[in-house]
Amino acid sequence: MTDQSEKPTQTYLPILIVDDEPSIRRLVTRILSEAGYTSEVACDGREAIEKLKQKSFGLVIADISMPVMDGLAMTEEVVRTMGTEVIIMTGKINRFSYDQVVAKGASDYIQKPFSPEELVLRIERVLRERQLKKEAIRHQNEQAQSQRLESIGQLAAGIAHEINTPIQYIGDNTTFIRESFDDLRRMIRTLLDLYDAARENRGDPGPLDQGLLDRVSTALEETDFEFVNEELPVAIDQTLEGVSRIKEIIKAMKDFSHPGATDHTLANINDCIQSTATISKNEWKYVADLELDLDPALPEIRCNPGELNQVILNIIVNACHAIADRQEEKREDEGRQEGNDTKRGKIGIRTRWQGKAVEIRIFDTGAGISEKIVEKIFDPFFTTKEIGKGTGQGLAIVRSIVVNRHHGRIQVHSRPGRGTTFVLTIPATDSDGS
Ligand SMILES: Nc1ncnc2c1ncn2[C@@H]1O[C@H](COP(=O)(O)OP(=O)(O)OP(=O)(O)O)[C@@H](O)[C@H]1O
Ligand SMILES: [Mg+2]
Repeated sequence: MTDQSEKPTQTYLPILIVDDEPSIRRLVTRILSEAGYTSEVACDGREAIEKLKQKSFGLVIADISMPVMDGLAMTEEVVRTMGTEVIIMTGKINRFSYDQVVAKGASDYIQKPFSPEELVLRIERVLRERQLKKEAIRHQNEQAQSQRLESIGQLAAGIAHEINTPIQYIGDNTTFIRESFDDLRRMIRTLLDLYDAARENRGDPGPLDQGLLDRVSTALEETDFEFVNEELPVAIDQTLEGVSRIKEIIKAMKDFSHPGATDHTLANINDCIQSTATISKNEWKYVADLELDLDPALPEIRCNPGELNQVILNIIVNACHAIADRQEEKREDEGRQEGNDTKRGKIGIRTRWQGKAVEIRIFDTGAGISEKIVEKIFDPFFTTKEIGKGTGQGLAIVRSIVVNRHHGRIQVHSRPGRGTTFVLTIPATDSDGS
């Protein structure tokens, strides 16, 4: 299996060339353009920093001695505050050693005059190293995250199992009470008939004594038998309904956590969606209605249901946050008080069998994603949420599970202010996994 193809080391972001010499700026621009890179220029360190604040660059190549702010001071600030890699170009006159330059945070240095090949080689090396570093960090994060999820899964399965036993006997006992009470009611009804008959016969000096009849009469008033007779069955039925709901949740929790299922198995993705919708109810029920439109023609496919559950859960939770954000914005716009009639949102999950793949479409009527950040949402640690609410890992995991582990595809369509749709395509593979 070869999903981990070699990654290109090209940067798709422009490179920033910083030099006070127009001829050097032109030369480097030409070299970069011939090597397939786009670039922009700045005349000194200060201007470079201003540019870096405005937009993202893949790399900075800077001279050392420049007016206003020299290359080393700029490097220190850039590396510390923005984390962008810098390659320093040193001149003949004030020559710095490699160590001096690296101590300021530069990734590499090159001595003027240099050949185009040498410059391009160094750029490629720095970019490749950065890419490797990023991937190592991503891999580490994903591993830590999946270990965390696995232990949460085991915990959930354990809790589900623990709850199962008491709920079982609460259910059995309630059923027993329900049935016994029906017998009791029939018996009491018969006794009441007897009591009525006895009262009508009061003149007759039968074997019943008046004191006993009075006592029965008081007891009937005190227990309000008619009320109990009406309400008790209702209370018991509600209890039984609650028990069966809890049983459903426990089943969903068990299905969701799939303890130990680290490999692909045959599963129906509709089941994943159903159990995830059940266990995440507490997330969505306050902000949105969740509508499922699940294709009954979906076959079982080889997949990792535990992982796909995580995918659906992450997307549902994001949708809830986006809907809450939009409600918040609306409230601010309209100057309303908290709790006023901001409309509930909607989350929809639709599945379709496409002959060779399952398409899962998840839409929300939330705040949407602006074009500026839509490219970044799958990056690990990218979040627009406050500390404690988001870590920026959710969609990175989604991508890793769908794209790397299931060879699938993800598309995002979003309209700021209107909502977002994620379309996941999970291909069905042969039973040997090819
Ligand atoms: N349905 C959505 N609507 C609007 N914005 C979204 C939606 N889904 C994701 N985003 C944006 O993408 C960012 C990254 O999402 P991601 O799930 O990776 O991280 P997070 O939700 O911020 O944190 P975490 O999932 O780790 O708790 C979010 O902070 C948000 O800005
Ligand atoms: Mg998230």
